[in-house]
Amino acid sequence: MCGIVAACANRPIADILLNGLQALEYRGYDSAGIALQTDKGLQRIRTPGKISALRQLWQANPIQGECGIAHTRWATHGVPNTANAHPHLSGSKIALVHNGIIENHAALRAELSAAGYQFESETDTEVMVHLIDQLEQQHGDLFSALKAACKRFEGAFAIAVTSSREPGTVVGARRGSPLVMGLGRDDAEHFLASDVHALLPETRRFIYLEEGDMVKIRASEYLLTDSEGTEVSRAIKISQIDAEAFDKGPYAHFMLKEIYEQPAAVAETLEGRVYAGQILANIFGVGADEMLARVENIHIIACGTSYYAGMVARYQIEELAGLPCTTEIASEYRYRKPVVPANTLFVTISQSGETLDTLSALRHAKQAGYLATMAICNVPESSLVRESELVLMTRAGPEIGVASTKAFTTQLAALQLLTLRLAAINGMPGKEYQDRVQELEQLPGLLASALELDSEIQQLAAEFADKQHALYLGRGDHFPIALEGALKLKEISYIHAEAYPAGELKHGPLALVDENMPVVAVAPNDSLLQKLVSNIAEVKARGGRMIVIADKDAVASLAADHGEVVQVETGGSLVAPIVLTIPMQLLAYHVALLKGTEIDQPRNLAKSVTVE
Ligand code: G6P
Repeated sequence: MCGIVAACANRPIADILLNGLQALEYRGYDSAGIALQTDKGLQRIRTPGKISALRQLWQANPIQGECGIAHTRWATHGVPNTANAHPHLSGSKIALVHNGIIENHAALRAELSAAGYQFESETDTEVMVHLIDQLEQQHGDLFSALKAACKRFEGAFAIAVTSSREPGTVVGARRGSPLVMGLGRDDAEHFLASDVHALLPETRRFIYLEEGDMVKIRASEYLLTDSEGTEVSRAIKISQIDAEAFDKGPYAHFMLKEIYEQPAAVAETLEGRVYAGQILANIFGVGADEMLARVENIHIIACGTSYYAGMVARYQIEELAGLPCTTEIASEYRYRKPVVPANTLFVTISQSGETLDTLSALRHAKQAGYLATMAICNVPESSLVRESELVLMTRAGPEIGVASTKAFTTQLAALQLLTLRLAAINGMPGKEYQDRVQELEQLPGLLASALELDSEIQQLAAEFADKQHALYLGRGDHFPIALEGALKLKEISYIHAEAYPAGELKHGPLALVDENMPVVAVAPNDSLLQKLVSNIAEVKARGGRMIVIADKDAVASLAADHGEVVQVETGGSLVAPIVLTIPMQLLAYHVALLKGTEIDQPRNLAKSVTVE
């Protein structure tokens, strides 16, 4: 998704901006640009494509300055071309970069065109720079213009603006999209970015802007206000992010590295939370256990892979804790009027904690009469964490690959902590509870064993490389694992993959099955195994090519002609969905590798989706 970097310092900053954009590449983008205040006035370089292309243009024309803004754009309004790339200019004096979507752009465009402004792009963003230009001339200074303009914008935004009428100054604002300020060397340089990763080589000291905040930075000072322009003070946080997370090490891709990090990431997520068959008190926050004792219903809301984690939790919470639970896609939930039964816990799941639909769902839920809000999230300083009452961090470490891997398995582990806590409160016998918690404690070792299947799965990948379509099947709490397997394959290999609850096969998708359709089934050793075996037979009878990812204890139930079988030690019913995810991830990875696609940054996709 779009990225912002801005800097004011007493030294040349082009490299800071270009390196910052490079650090944001993992979020997904399709064009990029920078604008600097130079001794020849405001100068800009933009291009569709990668940061390497922008760097080449810059090397051919190495503009330099000590104040500037930069952007990676993920197209929403208008194709990815130079004219639509940010920064956008109004005349020659003012430049702006924007993350988000301005919903009233058409009305503002008409108004500004009537006032004589010429538009050069198809973007919603360009209205912002012209409006700020107009207001700067009326109000006489950039910050006042920003404040007045923000009142006119409808939609979501994080922006950074610089004007050569105010040398050495950048102003910014956030509403709905994240923006952070970095404090540089000796407090004599200041930065803005949409994501701390962009600034880690320069600083570890950050102020996270809150909703509606506006900021003005210069090399040696800054001003931070709320949306009304009242000066506010916000805490300076020291980022603890490990620099190694941004290095692929010996791995060919971040995705592969992150797949291999899963045993450690899950162990970290469980660390200090489970011990000797018990879940420790109040791991969701102070007073959380008392609140959990009052919970009678659960609503889980998320997007993408996080949504699939929530789907697994729904099966497990209903089965083990006996509480009604629904899981819903955030972009749907946020626009409906939910009926909230008494004592319902609202749970969001998000790797980034900045997914706009999930955040908006949380804000929507706060008006709807829930017992409490809880976030399961991977980024401690994220908006979702800050706005939720209870929090369980997943501790996966930074996830760089756009396709989520370790975020998913750590979310599942965190959700199982919630499930078992609720189960204990709602009458699960002590011995069973202890056994289940111990199952969870075995999880890192089981994940490490599943990773040993890598070369076996690599062989199977050849089956897919020349195919256009694939089907994935699962039942019960493994249906969402089939969904996640299919999502991984389509995201990174661009093969059309669909997942079905295996029992639904005969109601439509069976018509697609022939020798050109690989079908992947997830087969845990659970009470639905015999049903799944019948569904596999239905595929075989139509000449379909089966690949079964099976619990090793389920293998005896499969017929000899049931296709390729990958045997996995899953360690029990609770954690089986997490363990069986690993072969799915590896399969998608190896297929994509054979196809030569861009694994870490798939086309058209973004890591943290901060627009609707
Ligand atoms: C994007 C990412 C997915 C992710 C989804 C939800 O689509 O590409 O990998 O699952 O957003 O993101 P979140 O950060 O809220 O988990």
